[in-house]
This record gives sequence, C-alpha cells and structure tokens, in this order.
Amino acid sequence: SRVVKLAVIPGDGIGPEVVAEAEKMLEAVTADSDVTFEKTHFALGAARYLETGDTLTDDDLAAISANDAIILGAVGGTPGEPRLKDANIERGLLLKLRFTLDHYVNLRPSKLYAGAPGPLAEPGEIDFVVVREGTEGPYVGNGGAIRTGTPHEIANETSVNTAFGVERVVRYAFDLAERRRQKLTLVHKTNVLVHSGGMWQRIVNEVAQEHPDVAVDYLHVDAATIFLVTNPSRFDVIVTDNLFGDILTDLAGAVTGGIGLAASGNINPDGTFPSMFEPVHGSAPDIAGQQKADPTAAILSVALLLDHLGLREESLRVTRAVEADIAERDGSRTTSQTGDAIIARLQA
Ligand code: NAD
Ligand code: IPM
Ligand code: MN
Repeated sequence: SRVVKLAVIPGDGIGPEVVAEAEKMLEAVTADSDVTFEKTHFALGAARYLETGDTLTDDDLAAISANDAIILGAVGGTPGEPRLKDANIERGLLLKLRFTLDHYVNLRPSKLYAGAPGPLAEPGEIDFVVVREGTEGPYVGNGGAIRTGTPHEIANETSVNTAFGVERVVRYAFDLAERRRQKLTLVHKTNVLVHSGGMWQRIVNEVAQEHPDVAVDYLHVDAATIFLVTNPSRFDVIVTDNLFGDILTDLAGAVTGGIGLAASGNINPDGTFPSMFEPVHGSAPDIAGQQKADPTAAILSVALLLDHLGLREESLRVTRAVEADIAERDGSRTTSQTGDAIIARLQA
C-alpha cells in the first residue's frame, strides 16, 4: 500500500473550519483504497505569531518540505489587531511557502456547476483554468520606500519577470491547453507594461510555434475582466502574471457561484518540492468562527491534490460529489453540514 505524507496547515479565521471538512473528505474518499495519508498538522498563522513571534521558521520549513503535499486553509489575522501591525503573515508564511517550494504554477480552475448561484443571467458554459505565475511579478518584494510618512515619500514595488520564470509557466499552460480545448489566452497589460508585457508576449509567441493546434489569443487585463463577465465561455486556459492572476481568479470565483467554491493548487511541476492545495479565498474574518464558511473550495482543493498525486479516480469521485451536492443545495447549512452533505454524495 502507498503512504502519502501530507502537511496540513489550517491557518487563521475560517481556515481551520474548512480544512476540517477537507480532511473529512480525504479520509472518506480513501477509506477503501490502498493509499494512506500520514498527516502532520502545523499550527501556523496569526495565533502562532502572537504567541511566539514566529511566522515560519527554518525548522517549520524543513518539516513541511519533508512531506509529499500540503493542504492549507487560509492565513491572515483579525484586521486592525495592533499586535499584528508589524507582521505580514501573508508574505512571511504563504508567499514564503510558495516561493521556497518553487510553486511556479498557481492553478486555478473555474467551472460553473449546474445549480450554482452565479450572478450572471445567461452565463453559458463556464469551464476554464487560470494558470497564474506563482513565484515572480510584483509579489517578489523587490522595492522599498524612502522618506516614509513624509509628503515626499517614494514607494516602489518592482515587478520581476525572468525569461526562465515566464517560459516555464507558459509551457505548462500550453501543455494544459493541449489536454483541454486547445485554446490559450495570454492576459497582460502590454500596452502599458511594455517591458514585462513585451517579454510575456514574445515568449508566448515562441512557445506557440511548438503547439500549432492551440489557438492563441491575447487580452489586456482590463478587457479580460469584461469578458469574464459578459462571455466567460470564450476562455479555456488563461496564462497570466502573479498579480493579474490573483485579481482575475477572485472575479472568476464570483461568476461561477462564489468564492466559497474556488479551489487552487500551488504546483511545483518538477516534483522537487511538495505542491500545496488551498482555497482561493482568504481567512474571512467577517464570518470566522461561526460555521458560516462554505467548505466546498477546500474540498475541491482535495480533488486537485488527489489528481496531482495521480489518484484520478478518487479525485473524480470528490468532484462528482461536489457537483451532485451543488445541484441540489438549498437553505442555509453550517460548514460541517455542507461537508457532511458532500461526503454523503460520494459514489463507490
Ligand atoms: P476573503 O476571501 O477572506 O473574504 C472576502 C469575502 O468573501 C468575505 O466577505 C468573506 O466572508 C467571503 N468568503 C471568503 N471565503 C468564503 C467561504 N469559504 N464561504 C463563504 N464566504 C466566504 O478576502 P479578504 O477579506 O480580502 O481577506 C481576509 C484575510 O485573508 C486577509 O488577511 C488576506 O490577506 C487573507 N487572504 C489569505 C488568502 C490565503 O491564505 N490564501 C487568500 C486571500 C486572502
Ligand atoms: C490568494 C491570496 C494571496 C495572493 C495573498 C493572501 C498573499 O490573495 O491566494 O489569492 O495574493 O496570492
Ligand atoms: Mn487572492
């Protein structure tokens, strides 16, 4: 039998609530299979920082890296908490994991399931994947501020784009498009961000030569937000930079039934480091601790995890259970009631 070592990082806010349901699902879907998950829980996040002053130590990193995969809930403490003023849990924990574990593909599928409460009157079929670059762009922390707090302050945040980094994520996106509907849309802002945008466009054009079957398209990010609302069916695979991908995928979540359904995988395709699966949403302090959060995104992140591990049948069973549940949702349920309802839909 196969043993998979899994790091579990519930995190802050609704993170622990939704991760509990994800763990229940993982247990249920593998109950009769010959794969066993050996889980290690890591109590990281705002609470840990307030207690010890640590966000993610080298020891934490080493222990997490020793696993085959990671599940994360969400991070981000209570807004306005004065003791978090100098902490940046998002950078120090989440981005540190993504960068150190070289999660250069941030995979964010969007699918409109029948019965999902989307805001569009006539959405048509929605089924696309955003391949968001995960280790570069404006996220790297390259910048600084001088004369802080004065009228002459200057604050810079430089977007870092390397040919190596762009090419590898673009190649992943083309390979994915080959396995899907052979359509790839580059989203950027090449009309203004000419240096990085020019390189992204050039690399997409070059890699496209190796994929004559893939229809390549380009949209400026502002126009992309229009089409995500007015004609989301036009998208199959979107490849884009770290920040544009962050923004587009919250919008994509909203048009496909809400952020509570949107799952993601932070993938290290080379397999050098464990990949990390998490909902697209955050710690939702406004509803935390009330069993109000929808755990579907966390449960669909388990489906992405299983697929990544090559457990395709188990992954499909999770997705089908979610699909069956969404088709007949009504009334309000607690987080754990929704988890139980989805698990009850699991087919043999
Ligand atoms: P958020 O995603 O936490 O919340 C936005 C809105 O969506 C809120 O109204 C929230 O109640 C709702 N929502 C989110 N998840 C939901 C769910 N599962 N079910 C029902 N409703 C849900 O975004 P935010 O408010 O911008 O950020 C809150 C904190 O989370 C911040 O500290 C932010 O940095 C952090 N954050 C973390 C991650 C992550 O860990 N991956 C992602 C996004 C934001
Ligand atoms: C996400 C989040 C993170 C991001 C933040 C919390 C660093 O918004 O996973 O989408 O911007 O990537
Ligand atoms: Mn985000």
